[in-house]
Amino acid sequence: MQPKGRTAATVVPMRPRATATRVALDPRQAKTLHQQDAAHLVHGFVPLQLHQQQGVPIFVKGQGIYLWDTEGKRYIDALASLWNVHVGHGRKEIARAVAAQMNQLAFAPTLIGPTSVPTVQLATKLVKLAPKGLTRVIFTSGGSEANETLIRLVRAYWQAKGRPEKSKFVSLNQGYHGSSSGTASLGGLPLLNKQMHPGLPGILHIARPYCYRCELGKTYPSCQLDCAEELERVVQREGAHTIGAFIAEPIQGVGGVIVPPSTWLPKIREICSRHDILMACDEVITGFGRTGALFACTGAGVTPDILVTAKGITSGYLPLGAVLFKEEIFQTFLATGDDYAFWHGYTYTGHPTVCAAALANLEIIERERLVHKAREQGKYLQKTLATLRDLPIVGETRGQGLIAAVELVKDKATKEMFPADLQIARRVWEKALAYGVLTRVAGPNNIAICPPLIITRAQIDELVAVLRRAISDVAAEVTGEEWKRASGK
Ligand SMILES: Cc1ncc(COP(=O)(O)O)c(C=O)c1O
Repeated sequence: MQPKGRTAATVVPMRPRATATRVALDPRQAKTLHQQDAAHLVHGFVPLQLHQQQGVPIFVKGQGIYLWDTEGKRYIDALASLWNVHVGHGRKEIARAVAAQMNQLAFAPTLIGPTSVPTVQLATKLVKLAPKGLTRVIFTSGGSEANETLIRLVRAYWQAKGRPEKSKFVSLNQGYHGSSSGTASLGGLPLLNKQMHPGLPGILHIARPYCYRCELGKTYPSCQLDCAEELERVVQREGAHTIGAFIAEPIQGVGGVIVPPSTWLPKIREICSRHDILMACDEVITGFGRTGALFACTGAGVTPDILVTAKGITSGYLPLGAVLFKEEIFQTFLATGDDYAFWHGYTYTGHPTVCAAALANLEIIERERLVHKAREQGKYLQKTLATLRDLPIVGETRGQGLIAAVELVKDKATKEMFPADLQIARRVWEKALAYGVLTRVAGPNNIAICPPLIITRAQIDELVAVLRRAISDVAAEVTGEEWKRASGK
């Protein structure tokens, strides 16, 4: 990472010095890029001071699970970049499919009618892969747009049914469904809710299935899934006639990789069905094999009414999201006889090039049996991460398949958290990055790990060894700082 400096007046073209693993730029070029980044590029979810004072790596190349920055430093991509690069970096097959499609056709206006071959093929493929009964597809450019679509879809559906008062949504505390206006309200992250204040009306948040720190003060299994019962209580309080849909990530990602007990999602499904409430699963992170099942909901034996996906659908090579929903919803719109019953979409819905990238990506996932691999290597990742529990500040490791979190605590016995100003997770994240492993902070106390589905056991060992070193270093630092504070030095 480079310190902030003067902004260069002109952009210096990038000239990687060598191929494959030797990709360092000329140091002056690298410095200029860091200066320009600090001066111009707003990253969104990077703390402002951190970006301005320390900068961020600028990646030049990726291959498999590895990344190289402008200085030629190598990183393990232990986050699949942003929970999305399922098949790993450098897949020529996807690049070829994209180039071929781009050479063929720039664009097709699916939104207003004429579409393209890969767009139709991808919609058909997704229906084949998705839980049975989800037969209709709307493409978007990412997860936020997909969840905006969901909000519109649910409200339009109940209007079409002649029940417009069923307009409320129930979602989970700390859930993340995107950063657009509607989805910032839909999710349960207090910071986004606050910044969107007064927000979209009619959104209710309930406790999540976070057994390590139960928000209802209960203990699993004696709680009998009281967090799912909270949905029942909200329905009783508000009236089922006012609630249109429930939405949740089957495993919360940004909120801290919260893995529910296996019976939680089926119980939620049962409550939704009994009260005639649509159930939506946000599988933007968990989709396409991440958890060891093609979709986490199918892994839990549940078919939602609406399934939202993005990220792994193209492994991040191009931006794409998709909303899949039940035939009955579509037939309801048709039955109104109103051509405009659901009037919604975006210019880039079903972009031909992006759909071609998705098709090539899904072909790799199938051919290389990456869902199966995620399940098998996932067991190894979870087992290996669990060895970190001997560290003094690791309270819990948890996950499913190739998504996991390490939760950091001040006191393992009481689960007391570190004071927020110590920024414990951020410090571990920074340290791991300095040692060449890209992770992310998820929730105040968690480090999330979510590598490409192609990761090997040896690479898992390598990444966990780096995490051990990063966590141990930070533990030593904070213990010293805490001691100084306590003794007034
Ligand atoms: C579960 C979930 N839903 C939605 C989104 C938003 O997707 P995007 O950033 O593509 O808009 C994300 C992004 O991380 C996510 O994790």
